[in-house]
Amino acid sequence: MSNKIILKDVNKEYSKNNKVLKDISLTIDDGEFVFLMGPSGSGKSTLLKLLLKEEEVTSGTISVFGTNLQSMKKRDVPYYKRTIGIVFQDFRIIENMTVFQNVAFPMIIAQARDRDIRKRVPYVLGLFSIEDKANCYPRKLSGGEKQRVGIARALVNNPNLLIADEPTGNIDPIMSYEIMELLSEINKRGTTVIVVTHDLSVVKKFPFRVVEVDNGIIRSDNKNEVISKKSSNLITMQTVI
Ligand SMILES: Nc1ncnc2c1ncn2[C@@H]1O[C@H](COP(=O)(O)OP(=O)(O)OP(=O)(O)O)[C@@H](O)[C@H]1O
Ligand SMILES: [Mg+2]
Repeated sequence: MSNKIILKDVNKEYSKNNKVLKDISLTIDDGEFVFLMGPSGSGKSTLLKLLLKEEEVTSGTISVFGTNLQSMKKRDVPYYKRTIGIVFQDFRIIENMTVFQNVAFPMIIAQARDRDIRKRVPYVLGLFSIEDKANCYPRKLSGGEKQRVGIARALVNNPNLLIADEPTGNIDPIMSYEIMELLSEINKRGTTVIVVTHDLSVVKKFPFRVVEVDNGIIRSDNKNEVISKKSSNLITMQTVI
């Protein structure tokens, strides 16, 4: 059992001779924070989809915290996906549900008990300072608030891994920085975080690993500068977030 995310010689073609990812090998430690950068069309979202088992590798292997994605049985995929929190650029908040209902949704899917939902959702909303919005419908929220709801929803089932594909793509720079701070805070509490972003000015403010994908290969990786590390007292905190 490895507690890392390991991609080994990963190739992805959506159609013959159209290589989107070429022999990608990448290891991400448990508790790491990784920015994934690179030009449009370079393969960033594809990489995330492979990790989420929304797409299959053409060749190579991916192992996520000891789970080999290639040998995973089809019936185990929904459970696997529930162990990962996902934040989308366009928030994907459900408009006819309140903030509470939106955040509760993954717990309902995971068949959590009612009393656990009633306890957990306000707690997570509180972490993101949106507890007073619990009964609001999304149309009354700002972009930044919607994204906080999106992150709260991604975290409600306490995932080991949080994946965000351009979470700040639709919000202003100040709010973007705040969202990145929140993701950084989540990482400090022990969750591994992978964030795709184009926002170099935000990335520069955080001392995390930056992996740059270009035309399907890893062009640079400043792994040596990684600062994010899980410490023992932070692990205990992970059990509450
Ligand atoms: N489902 C698909 N079928 C066929 N080709 C695809 C599919 N998804 C992505 N591609 C192609 O794969 C390449 C990489 O796409 P991907 O979405 O991974 O890029 P990206 O780095 O996320 O770009 P962006 O920054 O614009 O989001 C692109 O050329 C794209 O057209
Ligand atoms: Mg993309």
